[in-house]
Amino acid sequence: MKKIIIIGATSGIGKELAKVFSLNGYEVGITGRRTNLLEELASELPTKTYISTIDVKNAESAIRSLDKLIKEMNGMDILVINAGIAHTNASLDWIPEKETIDTNVSGFTAMAGAGMRYFIKNGSGHLVGISSIARIRGSDTAPAYSASKAFVSNYLEGLGRKVTKEKLPIAITDIQPGFVDTAIIKSKKVFWMASPEKAAKQIYNAIDRKRRAAYITKRWILIAWLLKILPGYLYRKI
Ligand SMILES: NC(=O)c1ccc[n+]([C@@H]2O[C@H](COP(=O)([O-])OP(=O)(O)OC[C@H]3O[C@@H](n4cnc5c(N)ncnc54)[C@H](OP(=O)(O)O)[C@@H]3O)[C@@H](O)[C@H]2O)c1
Repeated sequence: MKKIIIIGATSGIGKELAKVFSLNGYEVGITGRRTNLLEELASELPTKTYISTIDVKNAESAIRSLDKLIKEMNGMDILVINAGIAHTNASLDWIPEKETIDTNVSGFTAMAGAGMRYFIKNGSGHLVGISSIARIRGSDTAPAYSASKAFVSNYLEGLGRKVTKEKLPIAITDIQPGFVDTAIIKSKKVFWMASPEKAAKQIYNAIDRKRRAAYITKRWILIAWLLKILPGYLYRKI
């Protein structure tokens, strides 16, 4: 039976992904800080489920916990690094910016490294990171968030180059959602908001097909394209 570990599976996209993979026969390792929600989810999933309380902000301890979880599950085929936070921070206070960097950058890097070391040793695997459409351009209201997601996508591209050049049998997937209706979205007045269920199904398909990158939902490719071609002087004004 195939095994997947999801970093950040207590709510939103990660929780729905755990459900979809379990329904498709995977043994699932679920992690996050809220142990009660992990226990609740584990009781709902039809396949064998392992839980581990992990705070990715404590990078060294998170690495030890992930290594331990992989051993407990007797291996891992797919690692999804979904844990992430977003603060709107127009006043540029340090604490929200630091929290974003500690979670989305340091935490992501710690988990990606631990996952890759296991996959390289094991001789196969699939690493998936959840970035964002926000990675394409800098944000005025949440600058650390957009920058952190640019880091995630750029890091994954680097890993993709590494596995290709070193001929490692490891797949790398960069998932870039637009708006998904979860706790991270503070305003409900946003466009093209997908349900977490729909997003999880599309992410499952992208992972199953070992896609290098995928926009979630698919039509966000149009916004991505627009953001990429928009000249800087116009982008700064809108
Ligand atoms: N929703 C969107 O529109 C959208 C768009 C683009 C990208 N994304 C990305 O999608 C991912 C999932 O977010 P979501 O929308 O599903 O929001 P969410 O419901 O708030 O889920 C965030 C998940 O990350 C976990 N997490 C946060 N900080 C953590 C930490 N320090 N250590 C371990 N786990 C941590 C949370 O678990 P605990 O709180 O229990 O630790 C939770 O399971 C994020 O990376 C987000 O940036 C979301």
